[in-house]
Amino acid sequence: MIQTDKILPNKRERLYNYFAGKLTTAENLNRKVVSFQANKTEPIYRWFKYKEGFSSSLVKYFLTKYSPNPGKLLDPFAGTGTALFAAQHLGWKSYGIEILPVGIFVMKTREALCSIPLEKLHTTINNLWNDFSQLQDCNKHIHHISITKDAFPEETELSLDKYLTFCATIEDKNVQQVLRFAAFSVLEEISFTRKDGQYLRWDYRSKRTLSGKPFDKGEIETFEQAVTRKLNQLVQDLSSPHSHSLFDLPSNNGHQPIPLTIVEGSCLEELPMMEENVFDFIITSPPYCNRYDYTRTYALELVYLGYDHTQVRDLRQSLLSCTVENKDKIDYLNRVYSSLGKLSIVDAVLSVYNNSEAMTETNDILEELNTLNRLNNNNIPRMVKNYFLELCFTIFEMARIIKPGGYCVMVNDNVRYGGEEIPVDLILSEFAEKFGFNVREIFVLPKGKGNSSQQMGNYGRTEIRKCVYVWQKI
Ligand SMILES: C[S@@+](CC[C@H](N)C(=O)[O-])C[C@H]1O[C@@H](n2cnc3c(N)ncnc32)[C@H](O)[C@@H]1O
Repeated sequence: MIQTDKILPNKRERLYNYFAGKLTTAENLNRKVVSFQANKTEPIYRWFKYKEGFSSSLVKYFLTKYSPNPGKLLDPFAGTGTALFAAQHLGWKSYGIEILPVGIFVMKTREALCSIPLEKLHTTINNLWNDFSQLQDCNKHIHHISITKDAFPEETELSLDKYLTFCATIEDKNVQQVLRFAAFSVLEEISFTRKDGQYLRWDYRSKRTLSGKPFDKGEIETFEQAVTRKLNQLVQDLSSPHSHSLFDLPSNNGHQPIPLTIVEGSCLEELPMMEENVFDFIITSPPYCNRYDYTRTYALELVYLGYDHTQVRDLRQSLLSCTVENKDKIDYLNRVYSSLGKLSIVDAVLSVYNNSEAMTETNDILEELNTLNRLNNNNIPRMVKNYFLELCFTIFEMARIIKPGGYCVMVNDNVRYGGEEIPVDLILSEFAEKFGFNVREIFVLPKGKGNSSQQMGNYGRTEIRKCVYVWQKI
């Protein structure tokens, strides 16, 4: 007798079949267009590369295509603010939520640049090294945490402390911000480290005891060299005729640029506090479910911004779960909703999550693979489970606060663990439908990754999709 489970497609494949008509390969949206790489001609992104970002052109493309009349836009995972500034440039009122101080710092710098008298900046930069050398007292600003200890050559660290002491003496807060940003954006170059996926990679010249093949990151610039280079780049870009894109913003009543609102905090906490039916458009890219740890990758920048061990550890736990270290946030979510008198929402969201067969299948399979020791970390099932649960809450909230007819565009990658594909695009689109979105399109970027035969999943589709989903509120 044939067993039914052999002839019935599995739950993820069923979901695939359900959404098959919406999946379209988008030839015009290749990786380069979507990712931060397309930003490299834009001043601020050229100065500090936030590789997790998407591109301004992607944002402008979707806004123009789906919603040509400017209104209110939200990015709940704002990063360095690509969506906010691109939309502002098209005349939108932009709102962003971001939890990582790194993105907030970059956004603030961009804002500072819009209100800075260029002359003043030039004068400060011209006198910089002279004034710097005359500085007598120097305070300790860089307080390392264990994962950044000995990251800088001793002389560089002294210069960093002196530079930050000097910056604090600059009266104009906007000029101060830009100067602090210049050093912030060269921290990787002047250190013994290189950002490398989940961790920092350490050069053989550092004082650390390192195992494995020695890593040589090449020439390490001195602090003065790197900051001078960065400031030259900045001044050159700001003085070039193309830099008008940074300042030439559509105005409110012909005077002030359209204001932009940036909230530092977790969208899991901020979204439930927002009114419903407010936004015309949401464009966002949450962290991917890929174990990438923002707090380790940006540890040097966090320390530079004054974050200590406890703050970095707490930050890691507050970010959307996407590393194996993340613990579950259900108690926290209960507290958030309870404080707003909206506890019934927790049950409603949990019910959508628990009723997704593809989600349950994914969680069950990962648990089983774990028992069979087929995952390279025991916490992968917990991470995946919580990643989707937290995004389920986020999608519920996005559906609530967007106006009927409004669009939500989300950029995200699928992932694979223990050989099993996790169709992030389909599961999140299923949640979106349950919360009142119509799934208009799931654009698949032309070249997926990881389609080698060993990595292929054991059902139907084999390529790991990288997608842009377009949902419209009914
Ligand atoms: C893929 S990046 C978005 C990058 C952004 N699109 C850009 O162009 O810069 C995801 C962002 O979500 C942020 N994030 C993670 N958890 C968050 C949370 N709970 N609330 C708000 N932001 C969060 C991360 O710090 C990260 O900057």
